[in-house]
Amino acid sequence: MRHLIPSYVRVPAVFFIIFGLVEYFVDSGDKPAFLEYPIIMLFLLLVLVILIAIEGIVGSIENVLFQSLDEAGKQRYLANQAKVPQFTKVKALYAKLKGDDKPIEEEHEIILDHNYDGIKELDNNLPPWWLYSWYASMVFAVIYLFNFHVTGSSDTQYEELDNEYAQAKIEIEAYKKTAKNLVDVNSVVLLTDALDLQNGKKIFTENCIACHMADGGGGIGPNLTDKYWILGGSIKNVFQTISEGGRSGKGMVSWKKDLKPLEMAQVASYVLSLQGTTPANPKEAEGDLWQPEGAEDLEIPAEAQGTDVLEVEKSVSMNN
Ligand code: HEC
Repeated sequence: MRHLIPSYVRVPAVFFIIFGLVEYFVDSGDKPAFLEYPIIMLFLLLVLVILIAIEGIVGSIENVLFQSLDEAGKQRYLANQAKVPQFTKVKALYAKLKGDDKPIEEEHEIILDHNYDGIKELDNNLPPWWLYSWYASMVFAVIYLFNFHVTGSSDTQYEELDNEYAQAKIEIEAYKKTAKNLVDVNSVVLLTDALDLQNGKKIFTENCIACHMADGGGGIGPNLTDKYWILGGSIKNVFQTISEGGRSGKGMVSWKKDLKPLEMAQVASYVLSLQGTTPANPKEAEGDLWQPEGAEDLEIPAEAQGTDVLEVEKSVSMNN
């Protein structure tokens, strides 16, 4: 049995079994045990040395015993040894794939007749392993081409990327929905939940009434209950004003360092819930009458379109 497996297989095999057992039984967190505890490395090293030593000792004993055999015994022993597999097939395959290089004495037969500063070239046969890999890559290329570019049955890397982006977008949206605190000026919506508004009122009372009054009627800051807004009256505008502050020097500071995004959304929603209420001491209206529908759209087009036309003309003339 022992003869069936050569020592260069036996020693590593036994070693890795022991190694595996050690890793399995020693709890070392997410690091391998032999890195976590240097003593285990030492132990494994010792195991390896002992395994090699055993091989050496057993080999010597065998040799001594062999010498002490009589002729017939030696013959029988050698006959037994011959049964050990020599992996002839594997070796033959290796030789076949490696190809046959010309022996040095015959190299003159295949030398090419050019000479680069004394460097000459031999016209050796291509090594079969190389040639077969090349054929295989050709077959692969054809299958690949058909699969990805002709039938399109598999996604190319660009399609894969697009798909992953689309998937990631969906996941981000889903995540944002569950994580209310991630709201920003682009994703903020009017909160109508009683709890949100209650919290908004609390934040307003704690931070804003000095300038806007408890009922939003206004003082240093403008009246927040009327339809007139200096900085815009949509939820996005109000959120933006609270987050970034008003025009410089007017007294409305940026609150984004003091309030969390969700808190800003809550207080913004609370401010908008004051619309149409009648404060005790209303400050006169400031800013423009806010038109909820389409008001934002009105401002953008003229200039933006102008540049677009210019850009188009430019690129047209450049193409000519
Ligand atoms: C120190 C005084 C002060 C405090 C405190 C203050 N504001 Fe203001 N607020 C102002 C002033 C002044 C303006 C006008 C800004 C401008 O003209 O650019 C303003 C403007 C605003 C506007 C925009 C009004 C419009 O007509 O566009 C909103 C909304 C607002 N404040 C909400 C709040 C909220 C919410 C708080 C509390 C978190 C707060 N403010 C705290 C002084 C204050």
